Amino acid sequence: MSIKRIGVLTSGGDAPGMNAAIRAVVRSGIYRGFQVYGIKKGYEGLLKGDMFEMNLRSVSDIMSRGGTILQTARSKDFATPEGVKRAARMAEVFQLDAIVVIGGDGSFRGARALAREGVNVIGIPATIDNDIGSTDYTIGFDTALNTVKDAIDKIKDTAYSHERCSVVEVMGRDAGYIALHCAIADGAEACILPEKKFDIDKDIIQPIIGCRNRGKHHYIVIIAEGVGGTMEIADQIKSITGISTTTTILGHLQRGGSPTVRDRVAASLMAVKATECLEAGERNKIIAEKNDRYISIDIEEALEMEKHIDESMIETSKMLSL
Ligand code: F6P
Repeated sequence: MSIKRIGVLTSGGDAPGMNAAIRAVVRSGIYRGFQVYGIKKGYEGLLKGDMFEMNLRSVSDIMSRGGTILQTARSKDFATPEGVKRAARMAEVFQLDAIVVIGGDGSFRGARALAREGVNVIGIPATIDNDIGSTDYTIGFDTALNTVKDAIDKIKDTAYSHERCSVVEVMGRDAGYIALHCAIADGAEACILPEKKFDIDKDIIQPIIGCRNRGKHHYIVIIAEGVGGTMEIADQIKSITGISTTTTILGHLQRGGSPTVRDRVAASLMAVKATECLEAGERNKIIAEKNDRYISIDIEEALEMEKHIDESMIETSKMLSL
């Protein structure tokens, strides 16, 4: 079946670069002769039939903006078998030959549920967490890293001036990719990831004391949010070492901001690949970045794939903070 009309939605947590992906889906879709419908607020909008036809100018001047012009949601109604059936029926009402889903792992599970109801879906990975097994990279990761890097640079200025230990909690859900990359980029004295069991003495206190004995005067400890208990960890550092310790939970500021070049380019290339796959008659795929190339993977297969923290990066982070 050749594609005449597609829908595009953003779902789950927003990520910088989603707008660049929407723009490229719309422009490359129209270039290939498709009608493109923008679906508002993710699966919530699909359920309600809240969608509108987009044209080349609907996506002007959006690439530099963070967030998503289509808005996003974590839909409770869609998360039921009945909700998925209703959403699939609405796709039929609007005669959508395919839906492009821009989002993370949860959004792709939703897309797979729709695929099982007969809707043709294609996923574009976008989440600041970079935690999708099927792809080396997810849109938004680089911008979030740069935001965290800027924040920690600033925290370091004050930590140095007061000879403090700064505990910084970063996002990432159950994954430690943001934490680990920023530990290397900011020279953190300790970094605690959800993927690895930790021991406060060995993994935090000893590195801090060791660094102090080797002449350091301030310390950065990065905790990935999935570890939990950031405030308690900071309290323990203070009470065991006697070093003045502050805690900063960076929170949602990590999700905003103008996307970096890395994210704009990845979003544009992944979206163009998505419409190329649709034009070629591919069904139910996830776009992935693998070894600097963009490929499509069957959605069922993609959702079985796992990703693991690179142990050598953990060692490197420790070595360079000595
Ligand atoms: O998945 C992106 C993310 O920002 C995670 O890092 C974080 O755990 C979660 O979303 C927060 O979700 P919400 O914005 O719904 O609080």
